[in-house]
Amino acid sequence: MRIDVFTLFPGMVDHFCAESLLGKARTAGLLELRLHDPREHTSDVHRTVDDAPFGGGAGMLMRPQPLFESVEAADPPRPLYLLGPGGRRFDQALAREFASGDGFSMICGRYEGVDHRVREHLVDGELSVGDVVLNGGEVAACLVIEAVVRLLPGAMGNAESPLTESFGATGLLEEPHYTRPADFRGQLVPEILRSGDHARIARWRLAQALHRTAAARPDLIEARGGLTPDERALLEEFPPVPYP
Ligand SMILES: C[S@@+](CC[C@H](N)C(=O)[O-])C[C@H]1O[C@@H](n2cnc3c(N)ncnc32)[C@H](O)[C@@H]1O
Repeated sequence: MRIDVFTLFPGMVDHFCAESLLGKARTAGLLELRLHDPREHTSDVHRTVDDAPFGGGAGMLMRPQPLFESVEAADPPRPLYLLGPGGRRFDQALAREFASGDGFSMICGRYEGVDHRVREHLVDGELSVGDVVLNGGEVAACLVIEAVVRLLPGAMGNAESPLTESFGATGLLEEPHYTRPADFRGQLVPEILRSGDHARIARWRLAQALHRTAAARPDLIEARGGLTPDERALLEEFPPVPYP
């Protein structure tokens, strides 16, 4: 998969994507990350990429010309997204959609944002990573890259993980997990997980995922059409572990 990122701080994205599983994915050739600095497409001595907004107002905006020329020179994989808080919310479903394609691209804004003509005439859409305002799009780009690349076949140690974790095949949040020791400062691992009864453990896990999702994200239960009679019975059979 090829991902192109247009950023005034290519090092930020490059360093993040050089570590851990993303670094391995790049080394293995699963991810071809191409970084482009719009500053390379300036001609003045100060290599200016920003300017004051028409009509006045706080802060500076990224000028359209370095961004347009940077994109035209790179011919990046489409869709090309502008990152911004007003965009379509990035989520696991979109991560799966991107992971099933050959590639995509992102433009990271800085300052107060970018000249609107970039949004209107250069990109295919706008992506947000949540109702929060960042200083720039680089952290958002890294978030998107990590969420997508970990879904590529071969990128994760355990191929089952994307199915069994939150927002996976069940559409639920994940159940709680425990590792050794079974008794940590008097805090005990639920007995059932040490029982060896794998069928019962699977039912307990589903019940816990349902309890947790119903309490924390009832919208996800709604989205799958509510609870089935079997699921209601599971909730009765296995009480929830505490989530303080
Ligand atoms: C300080 S922000 C600009 C915020 C803009 N003035 C507004 O009020 O919507 C600078 C850049 O950070 C990036 N950014 C900030 N928050 C983001 C978010 N929630 N999702 C994606 N990108 C974001 C965008 O690229 C944006 O152009």
